Amino acid sequence: RNAQELIRPQLPAELTEKRAGCPFDPAAGLTELSERGRIHRIEHNGDTVWLVTGHDEARAVLADPAMSADRINSPRARALISPELHAEMFPPERRAGSFIFMDAPEHTRIRKMLTGQFTVRRMRDLTPRIHEIVTTHLDAMVEKGPPADLVQDFALPVPSLVICELLGVDYGDREEFQRRTATLLSLTTTVDEQIRNSAELRRFMQSLVREKQRNPGDDLLSGLVRDTDLTANELGGIANLLLIAGHETTANMLALGTFALLEHPEELAKLQRDPELVDNAVEELLRYLSIISMGVSRHAKQDVTIGGATIRAGETVVVSVPAVNRDESQYDNPHELLVDRPRGHHVAFGHGIHQCLGQQLARVEMVVGFTELLRRLPSLRLAVPADEVPLRTDMSIYGVHRLPVTW
Ligand code: HEM
Repeated sequence: RNAQELIRPQLPAELTEKRAGCPFDPAAGLTELSERGRIHRIEHNGDTVWLVTGHDEARAVLADPAMSADRINSPRARALISPELHAEMFPPERRAGSFIFMDAPEHTRIRKMLTGQFTVRRMRDLTPRIHEIVTTHLDAMVEKGPPADLVQDFALPVPSLVICELLGVDYGDREEFQRRTATLLSLTTTVDEQIRNSAELRRFMQSLVREKQRNPGDDLLSGLVRDTDLTANELGGIANLLLIAGHETTANMLALGTFALLEHPEELAKLQRDPELVDNAVEELLRYLSIISMGVSRHAKQDVTIGGATIRAGETVVVSVPAVNRDESQYDNPHELLVDRPRGHHVAFGHGIHQCLGQQLARVEMVVGFTELLRRLPSLRLAVPADEVPLRTDMSIYGVHRLPVTW
């Protein structure tokens, strides 16, 4: 088994594989399943999971305190591997600070210390700097090109630099953490590679925490070192989570979002005619693209009834973000990208206590990123046929590996 499978149950190919020539739509099998019901019991590869495709059911699962986010210690993860291997893969120092895997009240304690750092206001204050980072990268890309790879020249470096500055990580170290993050998020990474890369990332963060303890700056990590009683292991875990969650996700939204706009010229034209639509367009792209394509998983701590189905204690539930975001009871013509669609309640950032901590930051990065990209390069277009754009079907966060563009 690969390492991702332990924390993210694998679904049958017909529910996950992209349709040929259709890089933005969920698998045909997933859409058919959603039309048949809202919660489904799926047996695959010796695993049984409940797959949620309905919007209200998804919110009910994600808001239910009886649903645990502790994917590391789920009965499923423990059953899949030996206790020895489990201990090696998930040592206590790996768990420390990883609040995305914690339940209340442990989760609440850490999340509270961080919410103050991620307010809408703080993110607005960061906007001028984000603007500067976006323009600098566009300038460099224009000077070098055309053509360009939008991923390497724009979509990946912008959020990487932003999260590095916010956390106080040296951007010079990006190759190291980008490579290790990509390995951790790959669906083909073996358990051994996972153990090695996760330990290396932890060591990298531990030394950064020690540096902040000696030499605090005005970054977020220094603030946490100074103002909280978090242990060095917890601080390292938090920094690691923010660094990983903070750059791959937004990078893929920027690149796949641009690809989607280029493939929907009418929508692109609407946005070019009326740049004020950008906030709306960002929400619609989040909904339509659902880059957390493998969904968000939980396990039941006790028997729970959702949408008429009884989920037994210990069973795994996967909320299919792509299916839920295209639920026909929520959206008219859900399979269409409409940048002026009235804003609804998508679950691209999750829901409930684990709802994305970085969503305001991601929104600012996308709003500024798309606005400036389209303003600077109004003739932006693909430099290769659309079916030659390499899709991230091998990664747990969907997007494109490269986006060759010209202008
Ligand atoms: C949680 C998506 C950007 C930090 C989540 C969750 C989703 C998500 C679906 C919920 C996971 C769950 O319920 O198990 C996204 C998307 C992004 C994005 C689509 C970009 C467009 C960011 C950024 C940061 C970030 C920029 C950091 C600065 C986090 C953290 C959590 C989280 C720390 C865990 C929150 C908790 O467990 O309380 N994200 N995210 N994310 N995200 Fe994001």
